[in-house]
Amino acid sequence: MDFPAGRPLVSSPAAVLDAMMARGAAFLGTRYAILGGAMSWVSERHLVSALSNAGAFGVIACGAMMPDRLAEEIAATQALTDKPFGVNLITMHPNLMELVQVCLDAGVGHIVFAGGIPPGPALKAAKEGGAKVICFAPAFALAKKLVRSGADALVIEGSEAGGHIGPVSLTVLAQEILPGIRDVPVFVAGGIGRGEAILSYLEMGAAGVQLGTRFVCATECVAHPNFKRAFIRGAARDALPTVQLDPDFPVIPVRALQNEGTKRFMEHQAEMVRRFKAGELSKEAAQLDIEHFWAGALRRAVVDGDVENGSVMAGQSVGMVTQEQPVAEILSQLMDQAAAALRQRSERI
Ligand SMILES: Cc1cc2nc3c(=O)[nH]c(=O)nc-3n(C[C@H](O)[C@H](O)[C@H](O)COP(=O)(O)O)c2cc1C
Repeated sequence: MDFPAGRPLVSSPAAVLDAMMARGAAFLGTRYAILGGAMSWVSERHLVSALSNAGAFGVIACGAMMPDRLAEEIAATQALTDKPFGVNLITMHPNLMELVQVCLDAGVGHIVFAGGIPPGPALKAAKEGGAKVICFAPAFALAKKLVRSGADALVIEGSEAGGHIGPVSLTVLAQEILPGIRDVPVFVAGGIGRGEAILSYLEMGAAGVQLGTRFVCATECVAHPNFKRAFIRGAARDALPTVQLDPDFPVIPVRALQNEGTKRFMEHQAEMVRRFKAGELSKEAAQLDIEHFWAGALRRAVVDGDVENGSVMAGQSVGMVTQEQPVAEILSQLMDQAAAALRQRSERI
């Protein structure tokens, strides 16, 4: 076969990567199909704008913010970047509809619903207001249902991730969900710390990736120096899910670095179960007390720097966080690693 003169037969790895990321990047309006996963107290104006300015997609973590506070954070982020960014809303927030309206009024282009399947009216309001809606899909059946309900993109997050987690690893979720969902872009999250992994998930059909842990030690991130130091010291095996002591008292699994707080949580559960069995507390009161143990604990670690008693939410990729670096440097390292892996593969063939 003849090829036009002067045109290279093989594209550069960077160009191939761009092509593999094209669908996800077009959906986000970014250079790279990489989302900075929203992290409560961490993903505020500085980290979010730095991610978007560097070519990725920053996402503000609304967490428990009330509508006025969210409006202020969005405006402050818009003052720092003219690039697209999103807002992550927790579906059980009591003011969810107002928060959606705040995003729409501010012209936020992408709303990420997290923490459960979004209520129909919130999803409808977001879409009718012109925003693209991104939802978390914890299983294939739910992924299909979310697409039918109007989700414009999905995130599948494996149990390797930091923070609140489901039971299934990304390795398995990716195999179960990526081949079956073609109508909308699917971004994968959980345990991604290097470019080689990004390349592999793109090859499996992901439109892009979402990373959280890897961006905590960004220079632009406002997390307390103690929080960042804990990440730099931490190894994959230190980032463990919370353990439920008694089958009758459910505990939502949260992956975090082990510390005094995680030890005390076990003792606290044991004490509440003991008091319930001794008739000193009702079951509801004991359960509520167990749930309240971690209230405010992420803020204590991220903002106040109490990494002994606070909740140091971190994913298993924490072992790949070795220094504080600007966001742009982290992104170019990830892209270089992906490009090098692609080059090596083509040399092996
Ligand atoms: C400290 C911390 C806080 C987080 N807070 C949230 C949150 O508020 N909402 C949410 O949807 N995900 C939250 N996540 C999950 C991230 O958005 C992201 O999906 C996850 O970190 C990806 O996995 P990785 O940490 O292995 O990269 C949090 C993760 C961390 C580490």
